[in-house]
Amino acid sequence: MSDMINVALPKGRLGEQVYDMFEAAGYPCAEIREDSRKLIFENNEAGIRYFWVKPSDVAIYVERGAADIGVAGKDILLEYRPDIYELLDLGVGKCFMAVAGKRDFHDNTGRTLKVATKFPHIASEYYSGLCREIDIIKLMGSIELAPILGLSDVIVDIVETGTTLKENDLVVLEKIVPVSARLISNKVSFKFKNVEINRIVDAMREHINR
Ligand code: PRP
Repeated sequence: MSDMINVALPKGRLGEQVYDMFEAAGYPCAEIREDSRKLIFENNEAGIRYFWVKPSDVAIYVERGAADIGVAGKDILLEYRPDIYELLDLGVGKCFMAVAGKRDFHDNTGRTLKVATKFPHIASEYYSGLCREIDIIKLMGSIELAPILGLSDVIVDIVETGTTLKENDLVVLEKIVPVSARLISNKVSFKFKNVEINRIVDAMREHINR
C-alpha cells in the first residue's frame, strides 16, 4: 500500500482529458468516469489513487505532499512558483498568457499603467522586464470586464481560443508566454517513490509520443 501513488488531477475538462492520458498509459480507474460527487478514486492493482482538485490548488497538494504527483498549468507554476519538480509537458491545455486591451489602446508611458489580472506575479515580472511602472488590480475572474469599464488600461490573462476577447471587443496586444499542462511531483515523493513515479512519467511520455 505504501507505494500507492496519489495523483491530484485538475477538476474539469482538462482533468478529464488528462485522466484519459493516464488511462491510456496503463493507469485506469473505471469508477472515475461515473457521474458522481466523489473526489477520490483508487485502483489497487495499478497502485494509483486519483483526487479531483480545484485546478489552481493542485500545486499546493503536490508541494505539501498530500499528492505525490499532479497536473498543473504552467500559468499556475509561473505565478505561485511552488517548490516542486516539473517532470513532463503533457502537451494539452495549450494556451498563452497575454496582455490584452481595447483595439484602440495606446500606451501613455508618461503615467502608471493599470493592469487587471489574476496573475500579479507574472504581470509584475513581465512589466519589470520592460522597466514599465504598473499598478496591479488583482481580480478573481471575468478579467475582460476591467478595461471595458475603465477599471484598468489592460489585462494580463490566459487566451485559449480567443473567443472571450473577441466577444468583448478586446484584442491581444502582446504575447507573454505559452502555457500547457505539466506533470509535477512532490520533491520527497520523487526521492522515495522514484521507481513508481518514473514508471508513470515514462508511460505518459510514451503515450504522448505514440
Ligand atoms: C479564462 C481566461 C479567459 C478565458 C480565455 O477564464 O481568464 O477569460 O478563459 O479563454 P478563450 O480564449 O477560449 O475565450 P475562465 O474560463 O477560467 O473564467 P474566469 O473568468 O472565471 O477566470
